Amino acid sequence: MKKFIKLLTASAVLASVAFAADYTIKLSHVVSASTPKGQAADFFAKRVNELTGGKVEVAVFPNAQLYNDDAVMKALKIGNAHIAIPSFSKFTSLVPEIQLFDLPFLFRDTKHLHAVLDSEVGQILKDKVTAKGFVALDYWDAGFKHFSSNKKPIINPEDAAGQKFRIMSSKVLEAQMKAVGGSVQVLPFSEVYSALQQGVVDAAENPLSNFVTKKFNEVQTSLTISEHGYLGYLVIMSERFWKKFPDEYKGKVLQAMKEATEFERKLAAEDDAKLLAQMEEYAKSTGKLTIYKLTPEQKAAWAKAMEGVYPQFYETIGEDLIKKAQAVK
Ligand code: SIN
Repeated sequence: MKKFIKLLTASAVLASVAFAADYTIKLSHVVSASTPKGQAADFFAKRVNELTGGKVEVAVFPNAQLYNDDAVMKALKIGNAHIAIPSFSKFTSLVPEIQLFDLPFLFRDTKHLHAVLDSEVGQILKDKVTAKGFVALDYWDAGFKHFSSNKKPIINPEDAAGQKFRIMSSKVLEAQMKAVGGSVQVLPFSEVYSALQQGVVDAAENPLSNFVTKKFNEVQTSLTISEHGYLGYLVIMSERFWKKFPDEYKGKVLQAMKEATEFERKLAAEDDAKLLAQMEEYAKSTGKLTIYKLTPEQKAAWAKAMEGVYPQFYETIGEDLIKKAQAVK
């Protein structure tokens, strides 16, 4: 029996040697593997493997298993992580102009959003990130953000007063919440659940994919479908790693990324409706969550209350860039 086990172990080792890839790309992200970002990261890994005949593997680390929001940027710089998919706010100190995407009510709808991402505006921002020593690849979606709270339902702008909101590290998001009388606390994504649970913060803003997959419904009593802002990602690669990566596989990796981007955006769009239905069912069956949907008039009131945020960032983001984004058809 012992001999048999030894043989089995040896053949397993041999098999793993025989199929071992020549190169490993370490991809780190902070959300659940079941979000559109998580699924697209896995899809990318699969396609890289297929396109390179198994010579290149992508090891995906979800849920901040490898690095959290800030640490991943440093890890990319020194080549310890190879690809990351941070939300735009995580670029704030590096390329402040990217806070453009955090501006409330900037996008008319998903069509306008994608048109902006794929326009000169999106390219200008990618170039700025690349100039900081990363390889900026593609924009991925999380979706439009919604407010949630366990203190008081956030329906009208006045409801934000006296509530403490968890925000990502972005001056625009800080100004957005202050414009309606809220206070803010910047926290990494991995700490949001416990901060809401322990009452460190009362409220948050998330797309449905993050709200549902991180079970924020367990620690929030109200969810408002507000679509007041957008959460998206820029997929970036370590320049240091990419420079050393063999040319023969570069095209294949970029091809896999192109396919993953299409896959991700489609998934994010489809997911939203399903997740809302899931939350509605949860709300109905448990009675622990109330969901509010803003009317066009209520949305207009929020947009009005937050419009003063724009001029505050004309200098940092560039008035021109903001106007260009607004003008995209
Ligand atoms: C993410 O979706 O990557 C995290 C977003 C957040 O920090 O809220």
